[in-house]
Amino acid sequence: MKLKVYRYQEGMDSPRYDTFEIKVVPGLTVLGALFQFQEQLDDSLSFNYSCRGAVCGTCAMLINKVPCLACRTQVEPLLKGDLKIPIFPYPGVGETIPWDAKKEVLVEPLPHLGVIKDLMVDMDKFFDYYRFIQPVFKPSDLNPEKERLMDPEDVKKLEEYTSCILCAACFGACPVEGQNPEYLGPAALAKLYRFHIDPREGEDKSRLKVADIPSGWWACDSYGNCRKVCPKGVPPIKGIEKAVDELKREK
Ligand code: SF4
Ligand code: FES
Repeated sequence: MKLKVYRYQEGMDSPRYDTFEIKVVPGLTVLGALFQFQEQLDDSLSFNYSCRGAVCGTCAMLINKVPCLACRTQVEPLLKGDLKIPIFPYPGVGETIPWDAKKEVLVEPLPHLGVIKDLMVDMDKFFDYYRFIQPVFKPSDLNPEKERLMDPEDVKKLEEYTSCILCAACFGACPVEGQNPEYLGPAALAKLYRFHIDPREGEDKSRLKVADIPSGWWACDSYGNCRKVCPKGVPPIKGIEKAVDELKREK
């Protein structure tokens, strides 16, 4: 079994792909395979990771042309096609290269973010958009006399969106992001929607209005890749569509 890895660093005319024979053992993840690559072929291979447990969100990359967490994606089921995620195709995944999906695992950087080196991408744009929506709790009452109790049904609705780990897999999978780099993207909009439906927030609609701009809610074309690739089951498209419906009703 082989690992085919995207390589690029400043000064190179164009990226290249390195292929490396990996020792597949049960439970080996793509992140584990990248360590094998580093230890046995080239220790200059660069990639991000931290927790190795699908919590920190730093190891998202394109695996077999689908944005996934490297620490959570196992090699064996991938080669058998068991982990195939049928996403809507988009040009952002780069040029098609010769690749045998039955014998090779193809690993590339997340699209739409600019490559710093090898599999490391520049997350600035993703976090700029995230900051733009002001991802902080803005309660109507700053000094309540007692704790703010929530209806369990409201908690359930919020929980759909709160498990985001900011990995940017949805950002890399979004066809709109490739065509319109100004688009705030699924993760930022899902977070904004999460605050909008929080019953502890102020009553007005000002939070929804933050993204009532051409590069906000209205830019989404409902491809749905965001929901399919999210490793935490967050459905950004659902929140975006609900926000759009609400705004349309008001106009
Ligand atoms: S919504 Fe899901 S895919 Fe997008 S950044 Fe959050 S955890 Fe990652
Ligand atoms: S290393 Fe933290 S999510 Fe993969």
